[in-house]
Amino acid sequence: MPSDRKVSPKGVARGKRKAAPEPKPKVKAAPKVKRKAKVKAAPKAKRKPTSKRRSQVRPEPFSDADAKSIVVLGSTSAMARATAGEFAARGYNILLAARDQEENRTIAADIQVRFGVETAALPFEAEDFGSHEAFFTECRRILGDSIEGVILCFGYMADQTDAQADFAKVHRMVDVCYTGAVSILEIVARHFEERKRGFIAVLSSVAGDRGKQGNYLYGSAKGGLTVYLEGLRNRLFHAGVHVTTIKPGFVDTKMTFGLPGLFLVASPDKAGKAICKAILKRKNTAYVPFFWQYIMLLIRHIPEWQFKKMRM
Ligand SMILES: NC(=O)c1ccc[n+]([C@@H]2O[C@H](COP(=O)([O-])OP(=O)(O)OC[C@H]3O[C@@H](n4cnc5c(N)ncnc54)[C@H](OP(=O)(O)O)[C@@H]3O)[C@@H](O)[C@H]2O)c1
Repeated sequence: MPSDRKVSPKGVARGKRKAAPEPKPKVKAAPKVKRKAKVKAAPKAKRKPTSKRRSQVRPEPFSDADAKSIVVLGSTSAMARATAGEFAARGYNILLAARDQEENRTIAADIQVRFGVETAALPFEAEDFGSHEAFFTECRRILGDSIEGVILCFGYMADQTDAQADFAKVHRMVDVCYTGAVSILEIVARHFEERKRGFIAVLSSVAGDRGKQGNYLYGSAKGGLTVYLEGLRNRLFHAGVHVTTIKPGFVDTKMTFGLPGLFLVASPDKAGKAICKAILKRKNTAYVPFFWQYIMLLIRHIPEWQFKKMRM
C-alpha cells in the first residue's frame, strides 16, 4: 500500500515539523560528570580562522581514557546523527567523520552539549580510498584504546533511471556503498582483530535482499556489501569482534526525500534507537524497523517466474 507521503530533507515529515528534531533518549543520560567535555575540532581561536585553517586543526586526544568511544562514518546522515545521540546518551565519547566539516562540527558540538561526552570531528571521504589508512590512524591517535566500535552510515543512491543512462552514477554508487565501505572496514577489521575486541556495524539496505527493476543498481551495491559483511562477521568472530548488518527499510532522510511510492516510513530517531539496540544486543542482522524482516521474507520468496513479471 504505497503512499505519496513526502519527506523533508531534514528528516522531518511535512506538516509535522518539530522545533527540536532530536529525541530525548529514554535511556538514562550520561551521568553528569565534572570533566569538561570538548569538541576537539573546534577550539576557540583568538581570531576568526579561515575555513582552510579550521580544517587543518587537529583534534587533541580524548582526555577520559576510561570512557568507551565510537567512530561514526558518514555522520551527517540523519540516521547516523540519531544513532550517535543514542550512544552518547549511554556515556560513549563520539568521533564523527563526514565530508562536510561545517555540518560535522555543528553535530559534534550539539552532542557534546546535550550529553556531556567528548566529541571530535574529522573529515572523511569514502571515495578517496588512499586516505583511509591515515584517517584511521588519526582516529586511533584521538581515541587511543578507548575505541569500542565503528558504525558505518555513509551511502549514496542515485535515481535508477538516471543511473541507467549515466554510468558515472553507477560507478559512484558502487564506489561509495561498496568499495569505499570495504576499503575502510578492512583497515578497521585488522585493528580490531589484532586487539581481539570491538564491534563493527554497517548500514546496508533491504534493497540488497533482492534485485528489483526499480533500484537494482543501488541494490546490487548494497547486496554486495551485505555478503561482504557476512564474511567479515565470520572472520572476526574468531577474534571476539562482532559485526552487525543493519538493513533499514524506508527512513525519512534526505536520501528518500521526494521519492514516490514510499510506505511505512520511519523517522531517523526511531531508526537510531533500533540501530543502537541491535548493536548493543550484538545482533548479526537487524531490519530497521523490525517488520521489514517479514516484508523482505515475503518478497524473497516470490518465485522468480512470477517476480520478473512484477513491476517493483
Ligand atoms: N533512508 C533510507 O530509507 C535508507 C534505506 C536503506 C538504507 N539506507 C542507508 O542508510 C545510510 C544512511 O542514509 P540516510 O538515509 O541517512 O541518507 P543521507 O542522509 O543521504 O546520508 C548519507 C550519508 O552518506 C554520506 N556520503 C555520501 N557520499 C559520501 C562520500 N563519498 N564520502 C563520505 N560520505 C558520503 C553523506 O554525506 P553528505 O552529507 O556529505 O552528502 C551522508 O552523511 C546509507 O548507507 C543508506 O544507503 C537508507
